[in-house]
Amino acid sequence: MFFGSQNEDYYVGVDFGTRSVKAVEIRTKKDKVELVNYGWVTLDQVANDPVDVSAVANGQEQGSPDYAELLRRALRALLASVDPKATNVNVAIPAFNGLVMTVDFPLMNDAELAQAIQYEARKYIPTSLEDVNISWDRTSVDEANKKMKVILVAAPKSEVQYYDNLFEGTDVKVDSLELETFALVRSLVGNDKGRYILLDVGSKTTNLVLVEDGNVHLNRNIDVGGTDLTSTIAENLNIDPKRAHEMKEGGKNFFSGPMPIMFPSLDYIIGEVQRILAMQEGGAAIDAIVLSGGSAKLAGLVEYVAAATNLKVTIGNPLSRVVMDPKVARYVEEKTGSALAVAIGLALRSAEKNEGDS
Ligand SMILES: Nc1ncnc2c1ncn2[C@@H]1O[C@H](COP(=O)(O)OP(=O)(O)OP(=O)(O)O)[C@@H](O)[C@H]1O
Ligand SMILES: [Mg+2]
Repeated sequence: MFFGSQNEDYYVGVDFGTRSVKAVEIRTKKDKVELVNYGWVTLDQVANDPVDVSAVANGQEQGSPDYAELLRRALRALLASVDPKATNVNVAIPAFNGLVMTVDFPLMNDAELAQAIQYEARKYIPTSLEDVNISWDRTSVDEANKKMKVILVAAPKSEVQYYDNLFEGTDVKVDSLELETFALVRSLVGNDKGRYILLDVGSKTTNLVLVEDGNVHLNRNIDVGGTDLTSTIAENLNIDPKRAHEMKEGGKNFFSGPMPIMFPSLDYIIGEVQRILAMQEGGAAIDAIVLSGGSAKLAGLVEYVAAATNLKVTIGNPLSRVVMDPKVARYVEEKTGSALAVAIGLALRSAEKNEGDS
């Protein structure tokens, strides 16, 4: 039980994307998790000069001063509009800044495993181990064959400083950092039984996650996203990218009609999915592909991925794990789709932790 400040049952998640910053605030009341507020600010909204929608994501890399400055401005605008009651926030590290791998080990205790992992990590991590945070978890234990699978997660320590700096001078501070992959799984799969492939298609990258009974088994980050879709549309229709972007977000279905467009970036993503399917021991079945991210809204994408993979394809609903007024829910779902999945997953993290503590 908490008798501390009245703010303690409010939690905030902030998702820094390549094109926008998103935040959600949730409140826990008894065993209900309620979405209180959400917001997002795109980086072009806070740039001084009107910028091409794809320019920021294309031209500026994570970590460059200009990119950080845009994030800082977007964050301030976002905090002003969401006005969170919580003072601690959870933040996501982009999947491309982390490393997730599943490694087989013989059965051993925690102390032995901690040592074995240090040794194992050297094989995969190019930089000094002193510069990275490594965390791990057993995902399956096979007593009969004396084997276990362990997931290793490594992220650079410099990320901590980077995000602390972004929040400097605001009323909130970073409570914890988490690789976006885990936030995504929490809000879209939770503890649901089954095997799913999550495809979070953002603006610049696509995050592919194989999940079994709520555990991450594999995570791959692919360098394509909505910006590439826009370029393909512009080239095919011989129009400028701005117009192509408007048509895309306006809901035009480019997969149908007399001259369907072929998207090399989507075929690249589907190729990766097929590689993962081929790797499954004994051809173990996948229950569904779950799409999320802003590009999941691309008209006709669900049907296209389903036809290409022969699997059931759905759009993830991160709102299914929170409650709110049904009327508001309908509006939020329509407006945000699955784009809030990472932010909601981040906020849910603290709610779950406190549930365990109380
Ligand atoms: N209705 C829509 N139809 C198709 N694409 C859309 C739609 N709405 C948004 N998008 C696309 O979604 C992308 C933004 O998605 P999202 O907000 O998940 O990205 P991000 O998190 O900022 O980027 P990243 O995850 O790559 O860092 C943009 O490319 C945008 O054009
Ligand atoms: Mg994203």
